[in-house]
Amino acid sequence: MRILILGASGFVGSALHAQFADSHEVVGTSRSGHGLAPVDLADTDAVRELVGQGFDVVVHTAGVVDLGAAQRDPAAAYAANVAPMTPLLDAVDDTGAKLVYLSTDNVFDGTADHYDESATRTPINVYGQTKAAAEDLVLHHHRHLVVRLPLVYGRSPLSNKFLARFAAPEIRARTDIVCNPLYLPSLAPALEQLADESGVVHIAGAETLSRYELMTRVRDHFAAPARIVPTDRFSAAQDCPRPLRLVMRSIRHTASGPDVDTALADLR
Ligand SMILES: NC(=O)c1ccc[n+]([C@@H]2O[C@H](COP(=O)([O-])OP(=O)(O)OC[C@H]3O[C@@H](n4cnc5c(N)ncnc54)[C@H](OP(=O)(O)O)[C@@H]3O)[C@@H](O)[C@H]2O)c1
Repeated sequence: MRILILGASGFVGSALHAQFADSHEVVGTSRSGHGLAPVDLADTDAVRELVGQGFDVVVHTAGVVDLGAAQRDPAAAYAANVAPMTPLLDAVDDTGAKLVYLSTDNVFDGTADHYDESATRTPINVYGQTKAAAEDLVLHHHRHLVVRLPLVYGRSPLSNKFLARFAAPEIRARTDIVCNPLYLPSLAPALEQLADESGVVHIAGAETLSRYELMTRVRDHFAAPARIVPTDRFSAAQDCPRPLRLVMRSIRHTASGPDVDTALADLR
């Protein structure tokens, strides 16, 4: 297959790029170099030209992902996460390619016990609102796929932002935010397994735990010196409304990531 990965310099995109390249012909984009195709999603002509080169699948991972940044500057978040969608979808549809759009558990408000693909979206922060708006545009086109992810953790080739945090002397982590985090290397095989699906799918890890528990277990695994400081909604910086309980399930498939111990055994 020929696969185009938008955002291939990012944490998720660079891992997908590396993994898919083992068995597919892969082209990746970035605005920041790394030897990738230099495309800004705001440049609709460049997007159309690139997509027009002919791909079976376009995996869209690019955009503003930082919740605090999106909350501080909603216009920039909409410009990056929503405005490019219609020209991109037009370009994809002209070629007959399939779009796989990476979305987030932040389209939910975190008040339910768990969320499956039929759950109603009620985003409480700007990031979640932009992702829900982009999902709506993708879902107009029936052959495309929206993949909602929880917090993703692991090592990534070009943007190692998760593990880089453990170089700091102190990491503040919420005890009151829980999800079922996904081990990054398990995403590519899950996407391969779901290649023929359309609509919405959830892909999440097998275990539900707090941010504090996750960071503590990763710190212990590496025997890193970082002190993990427990915080909660009263003591954490109030940069953005954050859903507290984001447990994602699927009623469509059984492709989930491993539990944390299994992931850590793989993480060197
Ligand atoms: N990381 C997680 O825990 C997580 C959880 C749930 C969902 N997701 C979803 O997974 C996807 C990837 O997340 P991530 O954590 O890998 O993000 P990331 O590390 O911040 O990477 C984002 C990528 O988008 C590119 N980008 C940003 N604005 C762009 C623009 N205007 N035009 C072209 N490229 C642009 C960035 O690279 P350049 O600046 O080099 O172009 C980078 O390659 C996102 O859709 C996110 O919503 C992530």
